Amino acid sequence: MPFRESIRQIAKKMQSCEEWLELVRDLQEPIQTGGLQAELHLRWADKGDLMAINALQGFVKETDFMEASLRKGDRCLVVEHEERICAFAWVTFSDFSLALWYTLKLPPGWSYLVYIFVHPRFAGRGMGSALLGSLMKAVRDQGGSHMIAGMYSNWHASFRMHTKLGFRVHRRLSQCRLLNIFPTPPKAV
Ligand SMILES: CC(C)(COP(=O)(O)OP(=O)(O)OC[C@H]1O[C@@H](n2cnc3c(N)ncnc32)[C@H](O)[C@@H]1OP(=O)(O)O)[C@@H](O)C(=O)NCCC(=O)NCCS
Repeated sequence: MPFRESIRQIAKKMQSCEEWLELVRDLQEPIQTGGLQAELHLRWADKGDLMAINALQGFVKETDFMEASLRKGDRCLVVEHEERICAFAWVTFSDFSLALWYTLKLPPGWSYLVYIFVHPRFAGRGMGSALLGSLMKAVRDQGGSHMIAGMYSNWHASFRMHTKLGFRVHRRLSQCRLLNIFPTPPKAV
Protein backbone atom coordinates (compact mmCIF):
# COMPACT_ATOMS: atom_id res chain seq x y z
CA MET A 1 0.00 0.00 0.00
CA PRO A 2 1.49 3.40 -0.92
CA PHE A 3 2.76 5.44 2.04
CA ARG A 4 0.25 8.24 1.48
CA GLU A 5 -2.68 5.78 1.51
CA SER A 6 -1.42 4.16 4.76
CA ILE A 7 -1.29 7.59 6.43
CA ARG A 8 -4.78 8.37 5.17
CA GLN A 9 -6.15 5.11 6.60
CA ILE A 10 -4.45 5.65 9.98
CA ALA A 11 -5.85 9.21 10.16
CA LYS A 12 -9.30 7.87 9.27
CA LYS A 13 -9.12 5.31 12.09
CA MET A 14 -8.23 8.09 14.55
CA GLN A 15 -11.16 10.20 13.50
CA SER A 16 -14.80 9.77 14.51
CA CYS A 17 -17.64 11.52 12.73
CA GLU A 18 -21.26 12.20 13.56
CA GLU A 19 -23.95 13.33 11.20
CA TRP A 20 -26.21 16.19 12.30
CA LEU A 21 -29.51 16.54 10.46
CA GLU A 22 -31.41 19.74 10.06
CA LEU A 23 -35.08 19.25 9.29
CA VAL A 24 -37.60 21.89 8.31
CA ARG A 25 -41.41 22.04 8.55
CA ASP A 26 -43.55 24.47 6.57
CA LEU A 27 -46.10 25.50 9.19
CA GLN A 28 -48.59 26.64 6.54
CA GLU A 29 -49.11 23.01 5.53
CA PRO A 30 -51.82 21.16 7.52
CA ILE A 31 -50.78 20.01 10.99
CA GLN A 32 -52.45 16.78 12.05
CA THR A 33 -51.77 15.30 15.45
CA GLY A 34 -53.59 13.25 18.04
CA GLY A 35 -54.75 14.83 21.29
CA LEU A 36 -53.48 14.20 24.80
CA GLN A 37 -55.15 11.83 27.25
CA ALA A 38 -57.64 13.51 29.60
CA GLU A 39 -55.36 13.35 32.66
CA LEU A 40 -52.60 15.27 30.84
CA HIS A 41 -52.54 19.03 30.72
CA LEU A 42 -50.70 21.38 28.30
CA ARG A 43 -49.50 24.86 29.25
CA TRP A 44 -46.71 27.36 28.63
CA ALA A 45 -43.83 27.23 31.08
CA ASP A 46 -42.79 30.20 33.15
CA LYS A 47 -39.77 31.04 35.28
CA GLY A 48 -41.01 28.88 38.16
CA ASP A 49 -40.90 25.74 35.98
CA LEU A 50 -37.29 26.02 34.89
CA MET A 51 -35.78 23.93 37.67
CA ALA A 52 -38.20 21.05 36.95
CA ILE A 53 -37.52 21.28 33.20
CA ASN A 54 -33.80 21.39 33.81
CA ALA A 55 -34.01 18.34 36.10
CA LEU A 56 -35.91 16.38 33.43
CA GLN A 57 -33.07 16.79 30.96
CA GLY A 58 -30.39 16.03 33.57
CA PHE A 59 -29.24 19.59 34.34
CA VAL A 60 -27.42 20.03 31.03
CA LYS A 61 -28.17 23.77 30.91
CA GLU A 62 -27.80 26.65 33.35
CA THR A 63 -31.21 27.68 34.75
CA ASP A 64 -30.09 31.34 34.50
CA PHE A 65 -29.40 30.86 30.79
CA MET A 66 -32.87 29.32 30.32
CA GLU A 67 -34.46 32.22 32.20
CA ALA A 68 -32.62 34.75 30.02
CA SER A 69 -33.78 32.84 26.91
CA LEU A 70 -37.42 33.06 28.05
CA ARG A 71 -36.98 36.81 28.61
CA LYS A 72 -35.61 37.09 25.05
CA GLY A 73 -38.78 35.49 23.63
CA ASP A 74 -38.21 31.72 23.68
CA ARG A 75 -41.31 29.66 24.58
CA CYS A 76 -41.57 26.30 26.27
CA LEU A 77 -44.69 24.15 26.16
CA VAL A 78 -45.00 21.60 28.95
CA VAL A 79 -47.20 18.57 29.58
CA GLU A 80 -48.27 17.98 33.18
CA HIS A 81 -49.45 14.82 34.81
CA GLU A 82 -50.76 15.12 38.37
CA GLU A 83 -49.22 18.61 38.54
CA ARG A 84 -45.75 17.36 37.60
CA ILE A 85 -44.07 18.20 34.32
CA CYS A 86 -43.51 15.02 32.33
CA ALA A 87 -42.60 16.47 28.90
CA PHE A 88 -41.55 19.76 27.36
CA ALA A 89 -40.77 21.31 23.99
CA TRP A 90 -38.56 24.42 23.86
CA VAL A 91 -38.61 26.73 20.84
CA THR A 92 -36.56 29.81 20.02
CA PHE A 93 -37.06 32.60 17.48
CA SER A 94 -33.51 33.94 17.82
CA ASP A 95 -30.31 32.87 16.05
CA PHE A 96 -29.03 29.80 17.88
CA SER A 97 -25.44 28.76 18.45
CA LEU A 98 -25.24 25.03 17.71
CA ALA A 99 -21.46 24.69 17.82
CA LEU A 100 -18.37 26.81 18.11
CA TRP A 101 -18.34 27.31 14.34
CA TYR A 102 -22.02 27.19 13.61
CA THR A 103 -24.83 29.58 14.47
CA LEU A 104 -28.20 28.82 12.99
CA LYS A 105 -29.58 32.05 11.52
CA LEU A 106 -33.34 32.40 11.76
CA PRO A 107 -35.10 34.71 9.30
CA PRO A 108 -38.32 36.43 10.49
CA GLY A 109 -41.11 33.86 10.89
CA TRP A 110 -38.67 30.98 11.39
CA SER A 111 -38.22 29.15 14.67
CA TYR A 112 -35.89 26.47 15.97
CA LEU A 113 -37.03 23.60 18.18
CA VAL A 114 -34.20 23.61 20.71
CA TYR A 115 -35.27 20.41 22.47
CA ILE A 116 -38.25 18.14 22.98
CA PHE A 117 -38.26 15.61 25.76
CA VAL A 118 -40.77 13.07 27.05
CA HIS A 119 -40.11 11.35 30.38
CA PRO A 120 -39.30 7.67 29.58
CA ARG A 121 -42.27 6.56 31.71
CA PHE A 122 -44.61 8.23 29.20
CA ALA A 123 -42.64 7.60 25.98
CA GLY A 124 -43.98 5.70 23.00
CA ARG A 125 -47.63 6.58 23.68
CA GLY A 126 -48.10 9.55 21.37
CA MET A 127 -47.21 12.27 23.88
CA GLY A 128 -44.20 13.58 21.91
CA SER A 129 -46.25 13.83 18.70
CA ALA A 130 -49.16 15.56 20.45
CA LEU A 131 -46.81 18.01 22.18
CA LEU A 132 -44.87 18.85 19.01
CA GLY A 133 -48.08 19.19 16.99
CA SER A 134 -49.53 21.58 19.60
CA LEU A 135 -46.33 23.63 19.61
CA MET A 136 -46.31 23.85 15.81
CA LYS A 137 -49.95 25.02 15.79
CA ALA A 138 -49.28 27.62 18.51
CA VAL A 139 -46.22 28.99 16.67
CA ARG A 140 -48.14 29.06 13.36
CA ASP A 141 -51.10 30.85 15.01
CA GLN A 142 -48.67 33.50 16.27
CA GLY A 143 -47.45 34.13 12.71
CA GLY A 144 -44.64 31.57 12.39
CA SER A 145 -43.98 30.24 8.89
CA HIS A 146 -41.34 27.51 9.39
CA MET A 147 -39.87 25.44 12.18
CA ILE A 148 -36.41 23.87 12.09
CA ALA A 149 -35.39 20.88 14.18
CA GLY A 150 -31.93 19.36 14.52
CA MET A 151 -30.77 15.93 15.62
CA TYR A 152 -28.00 13.37 15.21
CA SER A 153 -28.85 10.86 12.50
CA ASN A 154 -28.85 7.99 15.00
CA TRP A 155 -31.63 9.52 17.15
CA HIS A 156 -34.15 7.23 15.49
CA ALA A 157 -37.21 7.93 17.68
CA SER A 158 -36.79 11.67 17.26
CA PHE A 159 -36.22 11.39 13.49
CA ARG A 160 -39.32 9.24 13.03
CA MET A 161 -41.48 11.49 15.18
CA HIS A 162 -40.41 14.60 13.25
CA THR A 163 -40.84 13.04 9.79
CA LYS A 164 -44.24 11.65 10.82
CA LEU A 165 -45.24 15.23 11.62
CA GLY A 166 -44.12 16.53 8.22
CA PHE A 167 -40.52 17.67 8.89
CA ARG A 168 -38.19 17.04 5.94
CA VAL A 169 -34.37 16.89 5.90
CA HIS A 170 -32.97 20.04 4.35
CA ARG A 171 -29.34 19.85 5.43
CA ARG A 172 -26.86 17.25 6.63
CA LEU A 173 -23.73 18.31 8.46
CA SER A 174 -20.85 16.06 9.27
CA GLN A 175 -18.89 16.86 12.43
CA CYS A 176 -15.65 14.96 12.94
CA ARG A 177 -13.23 14.71 15.83
CA LEU A 178 -9.52 14.04 15.40
CA LEU A 179 -8.11 11.47 17.83
CA ASN A 180 -11.74 11.36 19.10
CA ILE A 181 -11.11 14.64 20.95
CA PHE A 182 -10.50 17.66 18.75
CA PRO A 183 -13.58 18.80 16.82
CA THR A 184 -13.08 19.92 13.22
CA PRO A 185 -15.40 22.48 11.60
CA PRO A 186 -18.70 20.93 10.42
CA LYS A 187 -19.07 20.24 6.69
CA ALA A 188 -22.28 20.08 4.64
CA VAL A 189 -22.57 16.58 3.12
C1 LIG B 1 -38.14 11.65 20.78
C2 LIG B 1 -39.24 11.65 21.86
C3 LIG B 1 -39.57 13.09 22.24
C4 LIG B 1 -40.48 10.96 21.29
O1 LIG B 1 -41.54 11.06 22.24
P1 LIG B 1 -42.66 9.93 22.34
O2 LIG B 1 -43.77 10.39 23.21
O3 LIG B 1 -42.02 8.66 22.71
O4 LIG B 1 -43.13 9.87 20.80
P2 LIG B 1 -44.49 9.27 20.22
O5 LIG B 1 -45.03 8.21 21.13
O6 LIG B 1 -45.37 10.41 19.88
O7 LIG B 1 -43.96 8.58 18.90
C5 LIG B 1 -43.84 9.29 17.69
C6 LIG B 1 -43.12 8.43 16.68
O8 LIG B 1 -41.77 8.32 17.04
C7 LIG B 1 -41.30 7.03 16.70
N1 LIG B 1 -40.81 6.40 17.92
C8 LIG B 1 -41.19 6.62 19.21
N2 LIG B 1 -40.45 5.89 20.04
C9 LIG B 1 -39.60 5.19 19.26
C10 LIG B 1 -38.55 4.27 19.53
N3 LIG B 1 -38.23 3.91 20.78
N4 LIG B 1 -37.85 3.77 18.48
C11 LIG B 1 -38.14 4.14 17.21
N5 LIG B 1 -39.12 5.02 16.89
C12 LIG B 1 -39.83 5.52 17.91
C13 LIG B 1 -42.44 6.28 16.07
O9 LIG B 1 -42.37 6.42 14.66
C14 LIG B 1 -43.62 7.01 16.60
O10 LIG B 1 -44.72 7.00 15.74
P3 LIG B 1 -45.69 5.70 15.68
O11 LIG B 1 -45.96 5.34 17.09
O12 LIG B 1 -46.89 6.19 14.94
O13 LIG B 1 -44.89 4.70 14.94
C15 LIG B 1 -38.78 10.83 23.12
O14 LIG B 1 -38.40 9.55 22.69
C16 LIG B 1 -37.64 11.49 23.89
O15 LIG B 1 -37.87 12.33 24.75
N6 LIG B 1 -36.39 11.09 23.58
C17 LIG B 1 -35.21 11.60 24.28
C18 LIG B 1 -34.91 13.05 23.94
C19 LIG B 1 -34.76 13.28 22.47
O16 LIG B 1 -34.13 12.52 21.73
N7 LIG B 1 -35.34 14.41 22.02
C20 LIG B 1 -35.30 14.82 20.63
C21 LIG B 1 -34.30 15.89 20.48
S1 LIG B 1 -34.23 16.41 18.79
